[in-house]
Amino acid sequence: MKTELLKIDSPQQTDLLRRAAEVLRSGGLCGIPTETVYGLAANALDEAAVRKIFAAKGRPQDNPLIVHIASMEELPALVKEIPPEAKALADAFWPGPLTIILPKADCIPDAVSCGLPTVAIRMPSHPIANAIIREAGVPLAAPSANTSGKPSPTTAQHVLHDMDGKIDMIVDGGACSVGVESTVVTLCAKRPRLLRPGGVTLEQLRDVLGEVDVDKAVLGELASGEKPSSPGMKYKHYSPDADVKLVRGSLESFARYAKTYPAADTLILCFDGEESAFTNETIALGSASDAKTHAQRIFRALRDADERGFRNVLVHCPDDRGVDLAVLNRLLRAAAFQIVETE
Ligand code: TXA
Ligand code: MG
Repeated sequence: MKTELLKIDSPQQTDLLRRAAEVLRSGGLCGIPTETVYGLAANALDEAAVRKIFAAKGRPQDNPLIVHIASMEELPALVKEIPPEAKALADAFWPGPLTIILPKADCIPDAVSCGLPTVAIRMPSHPIANAIIREAGVPLAAPSANTSGKPSPTTAQHVLHDMDGKIDMIVDGGACSVGVESTVVTLCAKRPRLLRPGGVTLEQLRDVLGEVDVDKAVLGELASGEKPSSPGMKYKHYSPDADVKLVRGSLESFARYAKTYPAADTLILCFDGEESAFTNETIALGSASDAKTHAQRIFRALRDADERGFRNVLVHCPDDRGVDLAVLNRLLRAAAFQIVETE
């Protein structure tokens, strides 16, 4: 299959939007920009189209998809009930990088929910994502548009790299502004529970909901055979081919540790101002306290490591506050939970 790359700069380009919508309405797959990461979209109500997503990504069959909507009017048809917490979250964070798990309506195909009684819903804020959903006139199922297990794509080029020849179209809407995926919160547990940290922070969720539990898989490793609250948590994720390790300790002790690796094979991901402590090549992720910039740069940096042929990536471990909780969550998985304490 030939993959068409279509640049769309504004939601006013209705002719171009119509072409993307046509692909989706006729059961095809289209890579779309969102504010978090690029999504691999199909008509969420078309079971056959949704199945193609799993094939293109090599995605495990039991990992359910997020359904994307463009307005609140679409929600009631997709879920069994809208509890007051969902209303409060939607008022506060939609459109935006938040996914809410709710009891699913019967119209949600099994291919989307993978046999669960629930469905994940998100209303993206990216103007082109929003315009494509409206133009298609159907909700869109969309996981991140990477090959399963690889770092999520934050540019159309990343999507092309993973999906060329496997999908009908990629809409290039520029680089994603958040850079990590949406926050996933379930309202189907005893109390609201954070399943995946993302662009909306835990602190922000607590401001709206009061108490929010944090699933232990957010920062912990599941024991083998343990059943996760979110199927996606059990899979290896976000990993480049290079071996990734998180390093916790002072800059001096990190630099000493880095010397135990062959410099030419080893890329350092560090914070602004730390580069000169290393003889290796480095990528700076922003200043140590600037979590938003870490999020914008992390997936690109992991992809760059492979593009440039590095065998090892050593990452200065971020904090766990604000959006850094999401960055840390992704890095722990990219590193298969390998953390080196250098103090
Ligand atoms: O920002 C995002 O959320 C992006 C963009 C494209 O919107 N999408 C995305 O989708 O990250 P994906 O498929 O890569 O991640 C969805 C996560 C997975 O971990 C999946 O297991 C979880 O959401 N999920 C989906 N439906 C669920 C459900 N009913 N219950 C629990 N977890 C669910
Ligand atoms: Mg993903």
